[in-house]
Amino acid sequence: MKNFVDFIQFSYKNFVRKIFFAFDSEAIHEFMLDNGEFVGKVTPLKFIFNYKDKSLNQEIAGIKFASPIGLSAGFDYKAKLPNALPLLGFGFGSLGTITNKAYEGNPLPRLGRLVKTKSLMVNKGFKNEGIDKILKKVKNQKFSIPIGLSIGKTNESKMNQKEGMVDIVSAFKKAEKSKTNFSYYELNISCPNLLGGVEFYSPKKLNDLLKAVIALKLKKPLFVKMPISKTNKEIDEMLKVITKFKVGAVIFGNLQKDRSDKSFVKSELAKFPIGNFSGIPTQKRSNELIHFAYKKYGKKIKIIGCGGVFNANDAYKKIKLGASLIQLITGLVFEGPFLPAKINFDLKNLLEKDGYKSLQDAVGSFNK
Ligand SMILES: Cc1cc2nc3c(=O)[nH]c(=O)nc-3n(C[C@H](O)[C@H](O)[C@H](O)COP(=O)(O)O)c2cc1C
Repeated sequence: MKNFVDFIQFSYKNFVRKIFFAFDSEAIHEFMLDNGEFVGKVTPLKFIFNYKDKSLNQEIAGIKFASPIGLSAGFDYKAKLPNALPLLGFGFGSLGTITNKAYEGNPLPRLGRLVKTKSLMVNKGFKNEGIDKILKKVKNQKFSIPIGLSIGKTNESKMNQKEGMVDIVSAFKKAEKSKTNFSYYELNISCPNLLGGVEFYSPKKLNDLLKAVIALKLKKPLFVKMPISKTNKEIDEMLKVITKFKVGAVIFGNLQKDRSDKSFVKSELAKFPIGNFSGIPTQKRSNELIHFAYKKYGKKIKIIGCGGVFNANDAYKKIKLGASLIQLITGLVFEGPFLPAKINFDLKNLLEKDGYKSLQDAVGSFNK
């Protein structure tokens, strides 16, 4: 099986990727969603890559995860892939980000590739069909791995702070009332591409939002998706607020806004005057914040590492810094669809090599 995964990865990187990268990024994204949905329905393929090893098993926020590798929010914003994800080795995945009202997306270009930097330019601004349509689509669907729903604020410039909060709470209310089988929610407070001035970074505003969401007495654990383009002091203030509430995990983190990050190949960056960035430019800051949060709040809250994971070593580094779970998107685009399966294999070997019987034993080991 490992050889087969290696072969597919080799073919992807040397042939398929070359073809994909010759086309518009958003067109390829849509193609992947449509085909992924079809593949997810083909029963004989199921479980081929549903790799299981007990060293990778974990229970986080009351949810059982057979693999720590998840699809990060943003790729499956049409809720088409829940059945395809386990075929690629994913242990969980987040749909969305979905908002209370639909949004057709920011003006083009919304997506671009920085091939040398190993990054994607993202300027979608929560392009999505709206929560009513998405909930209807997944109603009564059974998922074979934990699937979560990422919720954010509708992208409208006219909304003031209070209306923005009401908008998010309304979406949560609808999700709670629906007959859907989500395992967790993600509260996305960190999209850098939104219109208007509503934000939930300052402690008071974050406190108000969390108070309102927690008051709904959600039936599923809540994870909070954090920004990375903030100082340690700002993040510390946010974490102080978050850890007062019943929040299952924080995710570090979202896209890179800081264009001065040293990982950018400058000539590529110049092609994209707008937008924010995934992949390698998020990696260092995501790792710093995982480390920072684990040292100070690791006993109070679980951490999900996200940003620039392209192989098992990248994932393992985040785990050793303090992450219990990993999310990714850009690695999939650059390394191929079976990256999660490959990471599962290699991660098991890395744990074994370091003498860990279970992934949980390695979490935060860098700090010990
Ligand atoms: C095409 C694309 C769309 C994204 N949309 C969202 C989104 O809707 N919600 C969200 O929380 N993050 C979104 N993100 C950010 C990712 O979830 C992730 O935090 C970031 O890309 C870093 O991970 P990566 O380097 O593995 O891609 C998006 C990223 C990409 C590449």
